[in-house]
Amino acid sequence: MCGIIGYIGEKNPIDILINGLKSLEYRGYDSAGIALKNKDQVETIKSVGKIINLEEKIKSTDLISSNLGIAHTRWATHGRPSEENAHPHQSGKITLVHNGIIENADELREKLKKEGISFYSETDTEVVAALINKYYEKSPVDAITKALQEVKGSYALGILFEDNEDLYAVRKDSPLIVGLGQKENFIASDIAAIIDYTNKYILLEEKEIAHIRKDKVEVIKEGKVIDKKIEQTNLEKDSKDKNGYDHYMLKEIMEEPVVLEKTFKPYLEHLDSLPDLTKYEEIHIVACGSAMYAGMIGKTLLEEYANTKVEIDVASEYRYKNIIYDRKTIVILISQSGETADTIAAMRKAKEHNIDTLAIVNVKTSTIARESDSQIFIEAGPEIAVATTKAYILQVGIMALLAYKTALTKDLVKEEHKVLEEAEHLPRLIKEVLDRQDEYKEIAKEIYKEEDIFFIGRKIDYATSMEGSLKLKEVSYIHSEAYQAGELKHGTISLIDEGMPVFAIITDDTIKDKTVSNIEEVKSRGAKTIIISNESWDNQKLQVVVPRISPYFQPLLIVPTLQLIAYETAKLRGCDIDKPKNLAKSVTVE
Ligand code: G6P
Repeated sequence: MCGIIGYIGEKNPIDILINGLKSLEYRGYDSAGIALKNKDQVETIKSVGKIINLEEKIKSTDLISSNLGIAHTRWATHGRPSEENAHPHQSGKITLVHNGIIENADELREKLKKEGISFYSETDTEVVAALINKYYEKSPVDAITKALQEVKGSYALGILFEDNEDLYAVRKDSPLIVGLGQKENFIASDIAAIIDYTNKYILLEEKEIAHIRKDKVEVIKEGKVIDKKIEQTNLEKDSKDKNGYDHYMLKEIMEEPVVLEKTFKPYLEHLDSLPDLTKYEEIHIVACGSAMYAGMIGKTLLEEYANTKVEIDVASEYRYKNIIYDRKTIVILISQSGETADTIAAMRKAKEHNIDTLAIVNVKTSTIARESDSQIFIEAGPEIAVATTKAYILQVGIMALLAYKTALTKDLVKEEHKVLEEAEHLPRLIKEVLDRQDEYKEIAKEIYKEEDIFFIGRKIDYATSMEGSLKLKEVSYIHSEAYQAGELKHGTISLIDEGMPVFAIITDDTIKDKTVSNIEEVKSRGAKTIIISNESWDNQKLQVVVPRISPYFQPLLIVPTLQLIAYETAKLRGCDIDKPKNLAKSVTVE
């Protein structure tokens, strides 16, 4: 979603700002802009579409020289993508960039209009600029404080004042860091934007205001300057490179064996270090998108093998539902970024009810990592492609280990050593599956011209199907739906036509015969079936057979095949694989 970078120092900021914006491209955006400041002059340049358009515009403009600037990539919420609506926004002496959503923007706009202030954009952000300008007399910190007392919603703001030489920043419910360099400092919504210049940073907490000069940073909380811890990231500069792959998505899929080994290692050595879920009478799993589908696999495994009741919900529903917490409950939040607005809200709701929260999260400094009661970190490293792949695999892996540990604690595991031995072989087995790219290319050739595709499966295979279907539609724009194999005939089967592709996932021996009958039903209506299974099927032309492994880990061998089929299909269709249209990597608005 939106991205922010700001610079103050001795250099001309343009290259730094543009480079930073490019590092934030993966979050998803539809317009971009920068503002440069020199003495009392502020110049803004904005453009719709890719950052290259902004670069072209900058090249053809005679810009002021400067050592201070802010820049932004916008993912439209209030108002369509246009130059007027792109950030930075200006009102009076204020120029600012904003991530988040101001919930009472309409109300504030009307109030300010009555006071004679006019607006040029449809955005909620311009309202904040106008409000800060209204309160600005001499002190930027006072003006920011007063304005934000009236604002409801989420914000990360980078702010310039026309008659002040410094950079200001503040945040609430949307991440923002202050990067610390030598005679230069930065602000960024994501460390990726500044990693080429520094690995040291300060994490701004809720409503803290940063006053940033080139050689000094002060953080002000409730009117007082406070001490802040200097953090250091271990993100490598080259983690942003594609390492020779055509796309980040492919690179990240290929990293799955390595990141799985790293994530599993401490738990395979000490299973005890995983939380004991048997202490709870009820488990809620809450997440969004693929993370929710990883949760679906976890729910199925916990119910099936650990005899444990689990409720699951998407965070955008959970946060507003009447949840009855009448039993000892734990809420498991799954999130790669740890910044998904709905998942954060769901976590805070549970905490308000004094319910224990456990986060399965990738970004260790994220809001969910910091505010949850306990955490299991996946070791995916940076994930740049918008469509998650390696982080999803690790979320599934952790859910599988949690289900296994719960079953073990309840004395429900028969072949204890076998399961753990198999877990150790997983990286090698995933690599074997990944190395069969020719097979996935063949399947992609069979489906890439289609406009509708179905995925069917039962129980765990249905949960896996959902991610296969989501991945395909996200990156290839082919309409696709996942159905419980037995449910298709209750309506949706009317859509099955001659030659329509139907993927069937079959790994669960307890139910496979039923799925086979459903495959016959679609076949007899002309469907072109593709079976993804852990056994081979006679008289089935299109099939992928993965190694058979303990049911806890079987999805970890099926999903990479579905990810690569989605990737190869998107490639044949010429899609923008790493940055699919309309999607954002980190969804920081509800
Ligand atoms: C976005 C991403 C998805 C991701 C979902 C949840 O929609 O495009 O890939 O699954 O957000 O994100 P999270 O960071 O909470 O896992």
